[in-house]
Amino acid sequence: MAFLDRHQVLERSPTLLFVFSLLVVTIGGIVEIAPLFYLENTIEEVDGVRPYSPLELAGRDIYIREGCYVCHSQMIRPMRDEVERYGHYSLAAESMYDHPFQWGSKRTGPDLARVGGRYSDAWHVDHLLDPQSVVPESIMPKYAFLADTVIDGEQIEDLVSTHRFVGVPYSDEMVEAAAADFRVQADPDGDWDGLVERYPGAVVSNFDGQPELTEMDALIAYLQMLGTLVDFSTFTPDANR
Ligand code: HEC
Repeated sequence: MAFLDRHQVLERSPTLLFVFSLLVVTIGGIVEIAPLFYLENTIEEVDGVRPYSPLELAGRDIYIREGCYVCHSQMIRPMRDEVERYGHYSLAAESMYDHPFQWGSKRTGPDLARVGGRYSDAWHVDHLLDPQSVVPESIMPKYAFLADTVIDGEQIEDLVSTHRFVGVPYSDEMVEAAAADFRVQADPDGDWDGLVERYPGAVVSNFDGQPELTEMDALIAYLQMLGTLVDFSTFTPDANR
């Protein structure tokens, strides 16, 4: 065929073939990549998702420091067995303020993406002090020292500012109130109205039951909010997708 004959011109000249391949790859690349520059956001915004409160953010740092992600994922895949066990599949928006994200790839223990509210604070305290005391066959290590490690929140304002620097929309007010919000979330007798206004759905509780503010408080504050921000009774995935 005449057309294929002409193609031989390309195939017989390495230089021409290279130039034309490059042209084809470039066009394909532009078609795939260019639209991304015109999208405001590749993540669908979902009602209820908000930045972490200062105490939750500190708890998240402890979660990362202790390597909880080595045994726990935080990403429920949209498959029936996972959804029946853990709840609604994870939405991209639910980890949009995670730096770094905690999806994980190892499940020695269960997925924790929706563990918030599933157990009482007291259960978490017992479980972190000595997992085998509540789940006898558990192989999870003890984290009892967290209850003895007092935290002062001296660097909490810097931590919140750092997250703002990488794109989390903390307002000036949130940064200024960070130290106060940090303390009051673990003090049900305190004046936490402002905290709950800034961080809707934040759980206020003396998480570990001790008067001092400890790493245990921060970690449980974080665990208790995981997966609770989106109201799935009213959530409908974007109809355009
Ligand atoms: C060596 C692996 C391992 C590490 C590290 C680990 N866990 Fe676990 N975790 C498990 C296993 C196994 C279970 C299931 C048995 C149980 O409930 O103890 C579990 C269960 C849990 C549960 C209960 C989940 C549910 O839905 O019942 C929570 C909450 C939890 N872990 C939090 C943590 C936190 C927080 C850390 C880090 C401080 C951590 N884990 C570190 C293995 C681990």
